[in-house]
Amino acid sequence: MRDALPPVLADDSSRRVVEKDGGVIRSVYGSHEINDVFQRLTRHPRILNPATQILGSDAYVYQFKINVKAGFGGDVWRWHQDFIFWHNEDGMPSPRVTSVAVYLDDMTEFNGPLFLIPDSHRQGMIDASAPSADGEGSALGRAYKNSPSWISNLTADLKYSLNKETVSRLVRKNGIVSAKGPAGSALFFHGNTVHGSSNNISPFDRVVAIVTFNSTENVPVPVEEPRPEFLVSRHPAPVLPLSDDSFLC
Ligand code: SIN
Ligand code: MN
Repeated sequence: MRDALPPVLADDSSRRVVEKDGGVIRSVYGSHEINDVFQRLTRHPRILNPATQILGSDAYVYQFKINVKAGFGGDVWRWHQDFIFWHNEDGMPSPRVTSVAVYLDDMTEFNGPLFLIPDSHRQGMIDASAPSADGEGSALGRAYKNSPSWISNLTADLKYSLNKETVSRLVRKNGIVSAKGPAGSALFFHGNTVHGSSNNISPFDRVVAIVTFNSTENVPVPVEEPRPEFLVSRHPAPVLPLSDDSFLC
């Protein structure tokens, strides 16, 4: 997968989101649609079978992204739950959805590991109406001023990020897990798990591929302004597993 990255990251299209400095790549979306290696990742039985087990149904790829978290430049992902975006923006009915982060680099204490609050998925969808700092006049507002409106779902200043009081309350109760692990690890997490990550001041990139599998029985209802298909899929074609050695050919 690391060998397959350079052309995927070089694709200068709206699939690609840069950090607010405009230079460093933050994320690339929907690469499984156009790249055979990442397509095979989504069909790999070691992630697909657990996903269908968790969902209790067939699964389809709802979202696919590669988060780069570049050394010396990868920016923060503020504390958030994923499902609130998918529910409010895309019309996903229920959090019958699971994400699996596959680590393409070692994720250590140095390079901005994912932080998760254990058990926070049991809180359901938490109100995230706290004021956000991404107004027109802010650095972030200016950095993305020519971008489509959905950009605020993908940048450092996430639209539905949780306020300090909420995070403090949950952390006091349940603590924080830093999901460190060697390259090749996979982390499954619930659509309502509260998570985020800090910026990366180390020299080490922290690339992860995150596949979000949605239940084929949980297809989003139509919304007024659907986000592009490369961000959010509304086509519940069940993913069919390949063989266990499908990366070796
Ligand atoms: C995410 O919230 O989807 C990912 C955050 C990260 O890569 O640190
Ligand atoms: Mn997230």
